Amino acid sequence: MCGIVGIVGNEPVAEQIVEALRRLEYRGYDSAGVATLENGQLDRRRAEGKLRNLEVKLSQAPLSGVIGIGHTRWATHGKPNETNAHPHATDRLAVVHNGIIENFRELKAFLETKGMRFETETDTEVVAQLVTYEMRQGRPPIEAVAVTLPRLRGAFALGFIFSGEDDLMIGARHGAPLAIGYGDGETYLGSDALALAPLTDEIAYLEDGDWAILRHKSVDIHDENGQLVHRPRHKILSGSFIADKGNYRHFMAKEIHEQPEVVGRTLAHYVNCTAGRVELPIDLPFDFKDLKRISISACGTAYLAGLISKYWFERLARIPVEIDVASEFRYREAPMEPGELALFVSQSGETADTLASLRYASAEGQHVLSVVNVPTSTMARESDVIASTLAGVEVGVASTKAFTCQLTVLLALAIAAGRARGTLSAEDEKTIVDALIGVPGLMSEAIKREHQIEILAREVSKAKDVLYLGRGTSYPLALEGALKLKEISYIHAEGYAAGELKHGPIALIDEAMPVIVIAPHDSVFEKTVSNMQEVAARGGRIILITDEKGALEAGLDTMATIVMPMAHPIVAPIVHAVPIQLLAYHTAVFMGKDVDQPRNLAKSVTVE
Ligand code: AGP
Repeated sequence: MCGIVGIVGNEPVAEQIVEALRRLEYRGYDSAGVATLENGQLDRRRAEGKLRNLEVKLSQAPLSGVIGIGHTRWATHGKPNETNAHPHATDRLAVVHNGIIENFRELKAFLETKGMRFETETDTEVVAQLVTYEMRQGRPPIEAVAVTLPRLRGAFALGFIFSGEDDLMIGARHGAPLAIGYGDGETYLGSDALALAPLTDEIAYLEDGDWAILRHKSVDIHDENGQLVHRPRHKILSGSFIADKGNYRHFMAKEIHEQPEVVGRTLAHYVNCTAGRVELPIDLPFDFKDLKRISISACGTAYLAGLISKYWFERLARIPVEIDVASEFRYREAPMEPGELALFVSQSGETADTLASLRYASAEGQHVLSVVNVPTSTMARESDVIASTLAGVEVGVASTKAFTCQLTVLLALAIAAGRARGTLSAEDEKTIVDALIGVPGLMSEAIKREHQIEILAREVSKAKDVLYLGRGTSYPLALEGALKLKEISYIHAEGYAAGELKHGPIALIDEAMPVIVIAPHDSVFEKTVSNMQEVAARGGRIILITDEKGALEAGLDTMATIVMPMAHPIVAPIVHAVPIQLLAYHTAVFMGKDVDQPRNLAKSVTVE
C-alpha cells in the first residue's frame, strides 16, 4: 500500500510531511517524495528507496512551502525509480495516489489525442494530466477534479495541490482509505490515523466516493454525487494505532472494507499491471513444468482458499492437485514422490496442524511453498519459499482480507504455472491478469451492496439452520460462507456442492431454512438454476448471490438477490467473497455476538 500525507499549514511543511510518512513505512514502499507550494509555485523533491534518501535531497535543496503533499510509493505501474515516484506534477498541479486506476490506458490514449505528453509509465501521471487538461479547458481546480473523479475506475485515494492556490488541497477516496485531520488553523490529509498522529488528535474518515476541499480554516466534504456531507470527527488516542478500528464498529468490518486496498497492493506485488502479466516477486526452487502433482494442505478458511486454487491450477496449468485439511493430512501417511510441490496456506503461519503437515511433506522430499501473511512465522521459516499475502495485520478472528489476499496470490501462482507449462497463452494470461487488476474496483462496488445485505441479515438471524450452495469455484465459497456464518453468529450452517443437493440435503428443504446460493453467470450457471428451482418447488427460500447477467436470467422468485458487478469467471470467487463476509458479519452484529472474538475461537490455533 502507498502512503499519502498532506498539510495545509502555516509553517514550512516538508519536514513534518516526511515525519508523517515515516509512520507509514510499515506499509512497505520503494520510493518517496514531497511537493510544496511557495509563492504560488509548485516544487518537489523525490527519491528512490527509503525516506532517508529523500531527506538527503531535502537537506541539499530545502523546500519551504507551507502547503504540501507527500507520498511513499509501492510500485504498481512503472519501475520503482525517481521518475515514477510521486508526487506527479504538471505546470498546474501536483498529485499523490494510492491504489490502481484500472482504466488508465484508455484515459492516456484520450489525452494523447489532445496533445498531452507523458514522462512516466504510471497511472498516477494520467490523473495529473487529466485534471490539468480540464483546467486548460477553463475549469477552476475544484471543478476540474470534480469532473475527473467519475471518469476514474478502480480502488484509489488521491491528494492534490495547485499552482497559485495557497489555501487549497483536495483529497478523494474511492476504495482506499483517506482521513482528514483538523488542527489550529491547519488541516491535514492522511492514508490513516497513524500518519496524522504527529499533526493532530482530531480526525474524520472519508467514506467511499467522498472528496474533500481542505483550506486552512475549513474542510468541505462532498459525496460521490457532489452533495455536501458531514463525517464525524474522532479523537484518536496515541496508543491505539495498530489496534485502530478507524470509524468501524469492529475490526472485522474494517478488514472487510480494507480488501480493495490490500488486494490491490497484493496483486501489485505479483503482476506487472502495465504489461498485464504475472511477475512473481520470489525465486521458486522448482520449475512448474517439471511437476507432476501439487499437494495442498491448510485449515479452515485457508483450506478453502486452497480448494479454490485447486480449480485454478488444474484449469490453467493442467496439473493434478490433491488437497486435504491439515488435521487429516498430517496423519494420513500420504505417499509423496520426492521433488513434487507441497503448498501450504496459512494467515498466521503458526497453525499446528498445518505446520505438522508441512514438516511431513518436507520429510517426504517435497518442495515446500507456503502462502502466509506473517513472513516471520514458524511456517515461513520452515518453508523452502514463501509467497506473502501482504494483507496487513488481521485482528478479527474470522479471516476476511487474508482470505482474498490468499486467493490473489494463489491465482498468480496458477497463472505462472500455466505459463511455465505452456498451457496458458500470453493472450489468455493477459485477459486473466487484466481481470485480476480489476478486482479491487469490483470489490469496492460489491461493498456498496452492504445496506441491502444488512437488512437481509435480520431475516437470516432468525434461522436455526442455513444451507449454502455453489458449483465450481463457488462450491468452496459456499463452504466459506457457511464457515463465516457459523463461527461468528453461531447459527448452524453448512456448505454443499449444488450438484449434491439431490443426494441428500434436499430432504432438509423447508421454508424455515434459508438456502444461500452463490452463482455468478458462468459455465455452470444454468445447472445451478435447476438446483434453485428444485429448492423453490419444495417451498425453500433462496438468497441468490449472482451478477447482473445472472439476476436477469435466473427467472425465479427469491427471498433476496444480491447482485454483484460482472467479473471474469476466474476472479469471481474473490469478488463474491465480499457479500458472504458481509452477510455473516451483519447477522452476527444484529444478534449481538462478539464479532471480533467469537466464543471458543482463537485467531491462531497453535495446538492440535
Ligand atoms: C477463519 O475465519 C477461521 N478463523 C479459521 O478457520 C482459520 O482460517 C484457520 O484456523 C486457519 O488459520 P491460519 O490461516 O492462520 O492457518
